[in-house]
Amino acid sequence: MTTDESIRARKTLKLRVDPENPLPVTKGEEFKETIKELIELAGKAPFHYESNEEQRSDALQGKEPWRFHVLDGESCRSFLRALNQEKPMKAPEGIRQMLAAADGLILATWLPERTRKLSRRFHPNLKNMEHIAATGAAIQNLWLAATSRGINAYWSSGGVIRKSKVMEFLGIPKDEILLGAVFLFPDEYPEGVETKTGKNAENRGEIGDFMDWIEVK
Ligand SMILES: Cc1cc2nc3c(=O)[nH]c(=O)nc-3n(C[C@H](O)[C@H](O)[C@H](O)COP(=O)(O)O)c2cc1C
Repeated sequence: MTTDESIRARKTLKLRVDPENPLPVTKGEEFKETIKELIELAGKAPFHYESNEEQRSDALQGKEPWRFHVLDGESCRSFLRALNQEKPMKAPEGIRQMLAAADGLILATWLPERTRKLSRRFHPNLKNMEHIAATGAAIQNLWLAATSRGINAYWSSGGVIRKSKVMEFLGIPKDEILLGAVFLFPDEYPEGVETKTGKNAENRGEIGDFMDWIEVK
């Protein structure tokens, strides 16, 4: 696939399976290598400011503003089993249905700058705006790379996964903010598995709806 083809082919696809009867995990080490390729490509996104050194975890010292924490298929099912038992907290059925089908879950976070003592989690300054933009670009890289490999995906804000109790359960450092919980779904699945496209999938206008020329005379 060319870059243009991948951009045009990308679309949200969610798979939903009974949380009590998840799909068997069929993908192993090879798929983990594929996920690493996706994240390596995500990491080619542009970033402007380096992440704040003080906020980097000991484990991940990268200068990049983003971090990617990954659950493979087995860990998706273990996470599902915990959530089914309301550990670390009660979770809606929708997210459990997706964990029952996912081949992987990539949690993309960013490291905010805290320039002032504020009750909110980050100050809305230029640096943080650029950290979010760069991390968004990295997630889009990842999604396009997944599309070109025939992997179905869904970018979610995370829902219950954003909650600090769940982030802590998953071992994600508390300074990091979740920007995307990217579910990876199989391209082949049993008949009867419910699929859903994105709610804005058909909501795109024409280029003239969002572009104009600036004529400077
Ligand atoms: C930053 C971001 C956060 C999103 N969060 C959610 C979400 O929490 N729930 C949801 O149903 N879709 C979410 N989406 C997916 C969009 O709804 C979906 O991409 C959109 O409907 C367009 O469809 P398409 O991906 O097929 O083009 C999110 C997308 C983005 C870019």
